[in-house]
Amino acid sequence: MADIQVSDGNGNLLIHFRGWEELCERVPPEYHQFILRPSEKFLTRELPLELLGNPTTPVAASVATGVPFKIFENNQELWLKTLAHVLLAPTEREEWLAMQGATSRRVEWLFGRAAAKESVRRFLQKYHQARWTAADIPIWADDSGKPHPLGPWREHTSTNIDLSIAHTSKLIVAAVAANARIGIDIEAVGRDLSEDFTKGVFTQEEMEMAAQTGEAPIAMLRFWCAKEAISKTIGTGIRYSPRDLRILSIDPVTGQIQIELLGQWLDSFKQLKGRKNVINSALYEGHVFASCMLPASLFEGA
Ligand SMILES: CC(C)(COP(=O)(O)OP(=O)(O)OC[C@H]1O[C@@H](n2cnc3c(N)ncnc32)[C@H](O)[C@@H]1OP(=O)(O)O)[C@@H](O)C(=O)NCCC(=O)NCCS
Repeated sequence: MADIQVSDGNGNLLIHFRGWEELCERVPPEYHQFILRPSEKFLTRELPLELLGNPTTPVAASVATGVPFKIFENNQELWLKTLAHVLLAPTEREEWLAMQGATSRRVEWLFGRAAAKESVRRFLQKYHQARWTAADIPIWADDSGKPHPLGPWREHTSTNIDLSIAHTSKLIVAAVAANARIGIDIEAVGRDLSEDFTKGVFTQEEMEMAAQTGEAPIAMLRFWCAKEAISKTIGTGIRYSPRDLRILSIDPVTGQIQIELLGQWLDSFKQLKGRKNVINSALYEGHVFASCMLPASLFEGA
């Protein structure tokens, strides 16, 4: 940055820089590489697929940890704007520019989009040997907020790909699955669930089940993540009483949870009546991670 004056060539002042200031920011090398080669490089890492319960249906998942929030605040958010420009499709850039709020919230959102787009890229690379860039994969949120990957790549595959995103300030994850509906959720270990919240979302039986595991606080987080994960799978979010997403069991060894839909959930999703839906839960990077996948056929024509 500088104030600059330029004059003629007759001995008068030609250039006068005042207040010269160099904008220098050290960023992780992968950011440079990503900007130079957006169809080859990734901002996120592959998420271990065990976290999704090693499903038989094709899946891909991405994770970002240790996002350097400070770098993105500096220099009028220069690096944030640079990454946003490379990651986002034109329609998304408008949404991005209109977004208000703290830089940290917008960084979290942008890395959520990066994880989502890179999950689709990983999927297309793995199952279709095709390379696309993040900007080729706009993410559209429907009226309920459920994200869907769009873009020209869809003309090259007959597979329907479902997407889910979850983020905290420390961990940002996304996963995609073919021929299935997918929902993932995370909570930081140590998050204190207030008494009011706990009473609002869990039944007495669920609280007792959590106590029986011998580590009630973690079990409660697993249960809450499981409820949010299935609500994302069916695409509603927590629209009705979370108590009616009833935890039936938890396997203390595998962390696998079974959930049944009751009440208004069942009124909206009659096809899930009596179904014991499996949610995988695990500890990962200081968080509880839960994932739920249901066959797409359950929602066809519904
Ligand atoms: C949708 C919901 C489950 C998200 O969970 P969260 O813990 O707030 O946030 P997460 O980081 O886990 O997930 C956020 C992502 O969920 C996705 N999401 C939002 N609505 C969704 C829906 N209806 N279906 C599937 N996914 C959805 C979005 O991609 C969002 O990320 P983005 O805003 O960056 O695109 C939750 O916000 C919700 O249902 N809220 C409504 C009511 C409520 O909060 N009740 C709580 C106590 S009863």
